[in-house]
Amino acid sequence: MDNYFNNKVIWITGASSGIGEALAYAMSASGAKLILSSRRLPELERVKQGCKVPEQVQLLPLDLSYADLLEGMVAEAIKCFGGIDIMVHNGGVTQRSLVIETEIEVHRRLMELDYFSYVVLTRALLPHFIARKAGHFVITSSVMGKIGTPMRSAYAAAKHALHGFFDCLRAEVAANNIKVTILTPGYIRTNISLYAVTNNAYGLGKPSENIENGLPADRAAKQIMKAIKRGSFEPYIGKFSGERIALWLTRLAPGVFTRIAPKLIPK
Ligand SMILES: NC(=O)c1ccc[n+]([C@@H]2O[C@H](COP(=O)([O-])OP(=O)(O)OC[C@H]3O[C@@H](n4cnc5c(N)ncnc54)[C@H](OP(=O)(O)O)[C@@H]3O)[C@@H](O)[C@H]2O)c1
Repeated sequence: MDNYFNNKVIWITGASSGIGEALAYAMSASGAKLILSSRRLPELERVKQGCKVPEQVQLLPLDLSYADLLEGMVAEAIKCFGGIDIMVHNGGVTQRSLVIETEIEVHRRLMELDYFSYVVLTRALLPHFIARKAGHFVITSSVMGKIGTPMRSAYAAAKHALHGFFDCLRAEVAANNIKVTILTPGYIRTNISLYAVTNNAYGLGKPSENIENGLPADRAAKQIMKAIKRGSFEPYIGKFSGERIALWLTRLAPGVFTRIAPKLIPK
C-alpha cells in the first residue's frame, strides 16, 4: 500500500485485540507511528512487540467505560509523538439480549462505552486537528449502526448514534480539511462475542458462529486501510454476505428488510 501511512501518527483504541490489533500490525508494517489504547496493558505490550517497528509504538492504557475521565488522555496522546494525524475510534463491546430482559444499566453502559467515549475523545482532539488544518477521524461503527435486528438494541442504538454525531461533524469540519470515515463492518472474526454484554451486563462468554465465519481481522484491516486512504465516508467492511445485502436493502427497499429482520436472530 504505497507510502500513504508512512510516518503518519495513528491513535487506535481497542488495539489489544481483533480489528484494532490487526490494524496495528498492518499500519506498523506500512511505516506508521502508533499510539495503542485499551484497558489491558499486557495485551497492548504483546501487540506492540508483534508490530514491525515496536520502537515506533507507544502505549496509552485507558478505560472507555468512564467517558468523563478521558479528556485528559488526548494531551497525553499528542505528547507521544508531538501530534496526531489519524484517530481510529475502535474499542467497544457488543450485546446479545432481548429488550424485555435487558436491564437499563446495560443500555447506559453501552451508550457510555460505544458512544459517549468517542464523543469525549473527539471533542478533546478536534482543536488539535483544526489548528493543523488536517486530521482524520475513523470510527468503527457496524452494520448494526444502519439496521436493527433482534438482541442488539443497546448496541445498535449506540452505533446509530455514532452515525448521527459523526455525519454532523463531517459536515462541520470539511472546510478545515478534516475527514471522517465511518466504517460499517459486517461479521469479522474476532473475540467480540466472548465479551458481549447480555441481559445483566455479564459477558456472553462463548463464540458466535457468525463471527467465527466472518472475515479474518487481517483482511478487514487491509480493507479499512484502503478506505482510510480513499477518504471513504461510510465503507462496508467484510465479506460479500447477508450483512452487505441487508445494508443495500435498508437503502433501496426498507420495507423488505423490515419484514426479514425478525428472523435474524444472531447465531
Ligand atoms: N467483530 C465484528 O464482527 C464486528 C462487527 C462490526 C463492528 N465491530 C466493532 O469493531 C470494534 C472492535 O471490535 P472487535 O471485533 O475487534 O472485538 P474485540 O476483539 O473484542 O476487541 C475489542 C477491543 O475493545 C477494547 N475494549 C473493550 N472494552 C473497553 C473499555 N471499557 N475500555 C477500553 N477498551 C475497551 C478491548 O480491549 P481491552 O479489553 O484490553 O480493554 C479490545 O481491544 C468494536 O467497536 C465493535 O463494535 C466488530
